[in-house]
Parts: sequence; structure tokens; C-alpha cells
Amino acid sequence: MIDLRSDTVTQPTEEMRRAMAEAELGDDVYGEDPSVNRLQELAAHILGKEDALLVTSGTQGNQVSILAHCCPGSEVIIEEEGHIFFYEAGAASALAGVQFRTIKGERGSPGTSLVKEAIREENIHFPPTSLICLENTHNRAGGAVIPLEKMEALYKVAQDHAIPVHLDGARLFNAAVASGVPARSIAAFADTVQVCLSKGLAAPVGSIIAGSREWIAKARRWRKRLGGGMRQAGIIAAPGIVALETMVERLAQDHANAAFLAERLAGIAGIEVNPELVDTNIVMAGLKKMAAAEFCQALRKRGVLLNSVSTRQVRFVTHKDVSQADIEKTLQEISVILK
Ligand SMILES: Cc1ncc(COP(=O)(O)O)c(C=O)c1O
Repeated sequence: MIDLRSDTVTQPTEEMRRAMAEAELGDDVYGEDPSVNRLQELAAHILGKEDALLVTSGTQGNQVSILAHCCPGSEVIIEEEGHIFFYEAGAASALAGVQFRTIKGERGSPGTSLVKEAIREENIHFPPTSLICLENTHNRAGGAVIPLEKMEALYKVAQDHAIPVHLDGARLFNAAVASGVPARSIAAFADTVQVCLSKGLAAPVGSIIAGSREWIAKARRWRKRLGGGMRQAGIIAAPGIVALETMVERLAQDHANAAFLAERLAGIAGIEVNPELVDTNIVMAGLKKMAAAEFCQALRKRGVLLNSVSTRQVRFVTHKDVSQADIEKTLQEISVILK
């Protein structure tokens, strides 16, 4: 099967499997797992933050971050299609007791003036604004990169109002590679950041959150409360180190494959794609004559897996386990289905 549903389906590399087998281990709840400690130090360095923490998933990383930033009854500003709002099972309201203030974005980037307007004034009737969440790259906006100048401008607004910024950087390294800047240059415009090891970087499990030493100490307690204190977690950390050290630059290949796919899809009747909107490894495509679910089912029968994102829209995600030949085959099958 050619699996274009998500970059989460990537299999760990041989080097990752070896690293798992050979990892030096200890009890990480005591802070004694050398592999976890190495991963956290490496990640903090790469992200330009004082400290970092290994968490089980992107969702856990984002939720621990919200818990460590916000009090119950406060309000979190987020772009209306943000993963934290859209896809985390209502966790922020169920666990942290916060409410969201969603605002419109342009390709996932919330406008600075809308953010400014959404920040609450001091008034006994209002929930205090406790956090601004950004997402880069932006999943539902089709892997869109938030331009660095935009990140900077948004961070300035937040700082002017003394409100922290949390960056959901599940695919931060895709943004960095696409923009030709180090990940830390993007993370610099957020107080805290979450990055996934288990998406395009192909580690089997885990995410990192990073921020100040004081904030990570708080986050560590929240992770424990959520049952995320893991013991010989070096088994997970070891492939995470391989991911950070060897898998970042190759994301450019995924981006090239996505660009090629988009260009070719744009030439197929019955499908609507704008290749100019493909910044990284995600291609969103509209279907003119067929329901998305039906299209995905037909492709599955022909050996290609794909997810629909709405009734008439599907999403292709490129990653290390999809070659250019796989893309060619996918295009062939699509042409047959839409003939
Ligand atoms: C932008 C973004 N944030 C967070 C997550 C959650 O990551 P996980 O599936 O590891 O919980 C995802 C997953 O696709 C994502 O795309």
C-alpha cells in the first residue's frame, strides 16, 4: 500500500531500531535515564530554549503546555482551524478548564490586529487571556508555513500584553527546512514550543516540549499528573535522538515530492489543487465531481491510502516512506478513477 494519509505512519529507520536496542536506560521519573536526558538537552539546544521535556505525543505536549501556562476559567486565543482547538478531543476544556477564543486566520496565520482585539481587557466580567497558541506548519491550512515576520509581529503583540505564546510545532522542522532557517529562529518567537518526533522525523513515539527551566519544571509535574511519567523511557528517546540528528534535512525531499504531486494533480480534470499553496509536505485537493469518502475508497481498492478532510476535500501527506515512484503510481490511479 502507498500510504499518503499522514506522516505519522512513517516506520522507524534501521538506525532508530538499533538505537532502541542499545539504549542506555534508567528511571526517568527519577531523572536518571541517560538517553532521555541526552534527548532533552539536544532538543533544548536545537530549539534555543533553556530546557526540554519528552512527552508521549503531540497532544500530550500541547495539553501539558496549556496546563502549565493557564488557570481554569481563563481564555486561550487560537486560530479557528488550529489542531489544539480542532483535533484534541476537547482536552483543553476538559483538563485545563480553559475556554478558547477562536479567530480567523489566513493560511493558518492569525492576523495581528485580530489577536490584539481578542486580548481581554481587565474587567471582572471577562475571562483573563492566559495564552496565545500558534501552529507552524499549520495542519488544516495544508502544511502552510507562518512567515517569520508574521511570527515576530504576533510575538510582539503578545509580549506587549504580557501574554505567553505556545507554538504547536508538530511540524516545526518542516517549516524550518522550507524557510531555510534553523528551527530555533522560529521557536524564538514563542515562549514554549511542542515538536513531534513521530511525524516526518519518523521516530516511533514521542514529542518534545521546550521552554524556560522554570516552566519545564511546572510542565514535568503536569506530565506526571497526566500519567506521562515514564520509567525506562530511553527506549523512546534513543530513536528520538536519531530523528533530530539525521532526519531533519531530508524533509526537503518530502517537500519536493509534495510539490511534484501538486503540479501533476493540477493537470487532472475533476481535481482542484493550487500548487502555489503547497509550502511543505501536505497537499490539499478539492474534488469537483466525486465525494471525498467515495474517492478515498476507490483509491484504497487500488492500493493508495488517503484521508478526507471534508466532504469534497482530501489531503495527501508525503513522508520518507513514499517515493517519487509511489507518487507517479498514485497519479496514475487517480487518473483512472476520475476518467
Ligand atoms: C499540528 C499538530 N499538532 C499536534 C498534533 C498531535 O500529535 P499526536 O498525534 O502525536 O498527538 C498533530 C497530529 O497530527 C498535528 O498535526
